[in-house]
Amino acid sequence: MKFFVDTADIKEIRDLAATGLLDGVTTNPSLIAKSGRNFLEVIKEICAVVKGPVSAEVAATDYDTMIKEGDKLSAIAKNVTIKVPLTPDGLRACRYFRDKGIMVNVTLCFSPAQALLAAKAGASFISPFVGRLDDVGTDGMQLISDICQIYSQYPHFETEVLVASIRHPMHVVESAKMGAHVATMPPSVIKQLFAHPLTDKGLSQFVEDWKKTGQSIL
Ligand code: E4P
Repeated sequence: MKFFVDTADIKEIRDLAATGLLDGVTTNPSLIAKSGRNFLEVIKEICAVVKGPVSAEVAATDYDTMIKEGDKLSAIAKNVTIKVPLTPDGLRACRYFRDKGIMVNVTLCFSPAQALLAAKAGASFISPFVGRLDDVGTDGMQLISDICQIYSQYPHFETEVLVASIRHPMHVVESAKMGAHVATMPPSVIKQLFAHPLTDKGLSQFVEDWKKTGQSIL
């Protein structure tokens, strides 16, 4: 399973890239607004740090403007992945970019039928939002299960399931059990994946006992 970080905070991205565990980055207009940075500049900086796919979302909702915006964004770096909304115009733009060999992430997916459309449009990634479904009393993980099942019926589909709107580590674990290809997480959730009290307790004990030996490995 690939791990993407869902942020436009370049410092967080640099720190996570240094762990060697980061495969890509997703951003959206809300994350860009939160960063307070210039969109084009921040995408360029991120692409210089992370070699994997870096999602940059179009702001327009009509096809013609999406194409102009996406062409400009894709010129920033080879690993820019154009993010388009799951609308008729967005999927038409998806096909346009895919025909040019540009990666596309189709976002704001909330149903299996939408995911099927994105695969038919040739999307590189489909982004189902599990947390936002949970927020409205629906089972977000059921959507991941449904999409994985549907895509597995059609081996010619090249679309990867990119689980988005992740709120906690169990969203990641359940997604991995279902065979989802990618999880994009806020930095806080990536950090939570490391955590277990028995790891902390066990390490403290080992450090203490090692001191008692009076030895040094170096
Ligand atoms: C990722 O591509 C999405 O934009 C993101 O995961 C949305 O997460 P949120 O529901 O926490 O805003």
